[in-house]
Amino acid sequence: MEIKTVGVLGAGTMGHGIAQILVRSGYKVLLNDVSQQFLDSGAARIAKGLNRDVEKNRLSQEEREQALGRLTTTTRVSDLEAVDFIIEAVTENFDAKVGVLRAVEPHCGPGVIFASNTSSISITRLAAATQRPARVIGLHFFNPVPVMKLVEVVPGLETSAETLETAETLATSAGKSPVRVNDAPGFISNRLLMPMINEAIYCLMEGVADAKGIDDVMKLGMNHPMGPLELADLIGLDVCLDIMKVLYEGFCDSKYRPCPLLEKMVNARRLGRKTGQGFYGYPTSSVRP
Ligand code: 3HC
Repeated sequence: MEIKTVGVLGAGTMGHGIAQILVRSGYKVLLNDVSQQFLDSGAARIAKGLNRDVEKNRLSQEEREQALGRLTTTTRVSDLEAVDFIIEAVTENFDAKVGVLRAVEPHCGPGVIFASNTSSISITRLAAATQRPARVIGLHFFNPVPVMKLVEVVPGLETSAETLETAETLATSAGKSPVRVNDAPGFISNRLLMPMINEAIYCLMEGVADAKGIDDVMKLGMNHPMGPLELADLIGLDVCLDIMKVLYEGFCDSKYRPCPLLEKMVNARRLGRKTGQGFYGYPTSSVRP
């Protein structure tokens, strides 16, 4: 199945990053969000990201212009009738994801594949909420999308072999390394990563070390590029909490209990880089888009 135009739902951190690598790889992208303001912000971040590639001599100015020419934005879901493949990257919430997929479904042909960038929600459950469970799959990208090579490719129970093959081909041609992972809470990435982050927050809460100490242990002793608390700030503490809840509820196992300090920080809207305050402070001028 040949894919030429991809609809990306959600122009936030993940959505704009996914759109950026797709237009750079030659796909036309229709970026959809609920407000023109979100779309303008996403498009500006894509333009800035592609500028970076020009500055680093990875892209010519002409290729940058061509890539930007392949990007269109729209607030109208009816415009998505022009796409061959959908990637959903909206809020990490089951009802929100089902809401957008159901809104776009009447405008998409029956052959169009719906991929979800969910970080932990069951693909089988999402697929069952659509009229095309054989054409629903997980494509889990990592933040920052232009930098991280991995995409977890997650078939649900009803996902067809053709859908799986098409999704893997798309990920590969967008410069990513797909890894096939079956549908289980947190897949592989977040089942391993989030308990580490959660445990780091317990260490902080119990006063075992301060935030910098905890992060330094993992950076200097384990060669991690970022410590777990810095990484939690990058991902967003609300996202970390949501994923811990999916693990806790999905496995019914107390070992995944979200750390009370994580809950408290989310309640205080200390969500990390995006709000300027998490385990560390981020002056607005230094917050990376
Ligand atoms: N957007 C785009 N590019 C970015 C970026 C961003 N937000 N942050 C950094 N980069 C690029 C830089 O431009 C630079 O590229 P260059 O080759 O053009 O210079 C390169 O990344 C390295 O950046 P820096 O030199 O500024 O900084 P570092 O060397 O410290 O790298 C990092 C930054 C790439 C973020 C690195 O610290 C890292 O890999 N951290 C771990 C990130 C990680 O684990 N991500 C996964 C999160 S989990 C997830 O997303 C799943 C979800 O479900 C929760």
